[in-house]
Order: sequence, then structure tokens, then C-alpha cells
Amino acid sequence: MRIDIFTLFPEMFAGVLSSSILGKAREKELVDFQVTNFRDFSESKHGTVDDTPYGGGGGMVLKPEPLFRAVEALPGGKKPRVILMCPQGVTYNQSLAEELAQEEHLVFICGHYEGYDERIREHLVTDEISIGDYVLTGGELAAMVVIDSVVRLQPGALGNQTSAVEDSFSTGLLEYPHYTRPAEFRGWKVPDILLSGHHANIERWRLKESLRRTKARRPDLLSKLELTGEMKKLLAELEREQGQEKSAEEKS
Ligand code: ADE
Repeated sequence: MRIDIFTLFPEMFAGVLSSSILGKAREKELVDFQVTNFRDFSESKHGTVDDTPYGGGGGMVLKPEPLFRAVEALPGGKKPRVILMCPQGVTYNQSLAEELAQEEHLVFICGHYEGYDERIREHLVTDEISIGDYVLTGGELAAMVVIDSVVRLQPGALGNQTSAVEDSFSTGLLEYPHYTRPAEFRGWKVPDILLSGHHANIERWRLKESLRRTKARRPDLLSKLELTGEMKKLLAELEREQGQEKSAEEKS
């Protein structure tokens, strides 16, 4: 996979793209990152990339020419997805991460100004993505979020492939609780079942805890899920247990 990033602040990406899983993915040549300052594609000798808005008003608007020139200078071949990071875009989620992870070439455009000239949205970009309903000072941090979630899905990027498959949101459920040594820490014990070595019981416990957590924290995810027979049984068990806990509380 090749990922091009067009930004006025290329230095923001250095640490993120060279650390941890992204750094290793790059070393293993699973991904090639190219970070480019699109000011280099300005037509003016002062490197101007923005201008005042037609019709007046405050703020500056990113001009179309530098970004069109930058994207059009990319090597030919299959047309890449050209992604504009902005709060007006579609809200990012794991299924979009999985879709983008299938692409050979992604291009991210990160702006820091009041707005983009509308012709960039209409004629240059293929996707507009927001990482949530809040406003950042620019698209760089948002692009890093998307890039991180896409690169970790590349085959071989994570040491242990099952870890991406079992992620929260990939399964449609939140993850079950994890424990490691010591078996007792400050009086808090690891659930006995995890120390039992009984794999089928452990799997069942994990599924039940995933359901418990999803029901409590993200009931919206649960209502979208097609429940298996076992899930229905475990949810009924949880209902019963919660009912019992409630009546015990009322008595005390
Ligand atoms: N740029 C500014 N805010 C943003 C957001 N929430 N998502 C993506 N890009 C942005």
C-alpha cells in the first residue's frame, strides 16, 4: 500500500509514522508513506496556498491550484482514493477502515484554514472523512487516526493476526476483559475460570463478558448484531443474573 499525505505541516507526521506498528509496517515494506508539503506546488514565488473568500467574510480559503498540481504529480496507474479530512465528512468507523485497507493507494489532504475552495471537494477528492463531531485545528491529527487504523489492518502489520480479527467493532462486540500475571494483585483476583485451562469454558466466558460489556456500554452495537443461538442463551443468562442482583439489592 502507498499512502501520500499532503499537508502544510509535514513535521507533525514524523514521530507517528516511524513509531510502533506504523514504523514496523514501513520497515517491513507493507506500506510506503510519502509526506509532501503542498506549498511546494504553489504557483506563486512566495508559496501562497490560501486567499480571502469571494463574497467577503473572515478567514482564509485554500486555493485549488497547489492541491490539484500536487495530486496530479503523483505517479500514474490506478486512480487513488483522494481523501479530504474535514468535520463535514462522513463519520469514520471500523467498516470504513476495513474498506480503505483494501486499497493500493490512498491520498490524504490535510488543511488548516477556514475552508477549502469548493472545486477541491467537487473535482479532486473522492471521499470526505470526519473523525467525529468536534473541530480540530487541522486535518493532520485526523489523517493520522485514519492511517493508523488502516495500516494495522494490513496483513502482517500486527504480530498476531488474530488480534485484528477479534478487535472491538470487527466482531460487532466490545472486547472481553483481559488479565495477565499476577493472579492476585492488591487483593484483586483474576477470575478462576481463566486459570482453569478449560478452553471451551474460557471461550464461553469471554463471549459472555463481551456481551455484558456491549450491552452496558454500547447497546446500539448489540441491536445491529445478528445474534447466534449461543449469544441469545448468554444474554438470557445475563438478564437473569441482573434480575437476581436487583432483587437482592432491593431486599438489603
Ligand atoms: N479537521 C478538523 N476537524 C476535523 C475532524 N473532526 N475530522 C476530520 N478532519 C478535521
